[in-house]
Amino acid sequence: MTEPQPLRVAVLVSGSGTNLQAIIDAARSDDLPVRIAAVLSDNPDAMGLDRAREYGIPAIAIDFHGCTDRATYDRQLRRQLADLNPDLVVLAGYMRILDDDTVNDFAGRMLNVHPSLLPAYPGLHTHRRVLEAGEDWHGTTVHFVIPELDAGPPVVQYRLKVHPEDTEQSLRERVQAGEYQIYPLAIGWIADGRLVFADGGPQFDGKPLTQPQIIDADY
Ligand code: GAR
Repeated sequence: MTEPQPLRVAVLVSGSGTNLQAIIDAARSDDLPVRIAAVLSDNPDAMGLDRAREYGIPAIAIDFHGCTDRATYDRQLRRQLADLNPDLVVLAGYMRILDDDTVNDFAGRMLNVHPSLLPAYPGLHTHRRVLEAGEDWHGTTVHFVIPELDAGPPVVQYRLKVHPEDTEQSLRERVQAGEYQIYPLAIGWIADGRLVFADGGPQFDGKPLTQPQIIDADY
């Protein structure tokens, strides 16, 4: 009998890559049956690329600012991903908008983590906007990626109560602590075959997933 093969994942990062680190740690501890085929970045200085190199994971930079135009960058990234042919593409703090062709190449095989309880607060500066609006609840969402920004079907959310003393920085830290739990969890569901994208939407344990799974923070 042949051994089940680990899920081959490509991770896209733009910055520090702490979510990437959580995924690397989970994979190394055997909690997550994935192999990270490569880490790619639009930013050659991204710390996430250094994290990859430290573990012998191929680190590929496509310098966005070194490209003559947006279409050139998009083409290069799309080609790199096609060459890698991963089972799953994971956006982990990747701060560029992907072109529709690249998203469609990986329809149902691309995840993102976004720091809000989607559909609330798509876009940037979510922690600040949540504080300014006086929200009681905040959190973060892992969702399948579709061409429309931050609008793909959510899979799992980490939810926390906003404390009166919270600042943008404390919210970022509390939200990210949740991301380190829910991102490896969601990737693991895909690796285990529990979460699939079929018939136009996510299915979990054979049933349509109409609402994301919710993990509540314990403080
Ligand atoms: C994460 O908190 C992620 O939710 C956010 O960027 C951070 C990256 O941190 N992503 C977005 O805002 C995407 N719209 P990391 O590089 O340390 O993983």
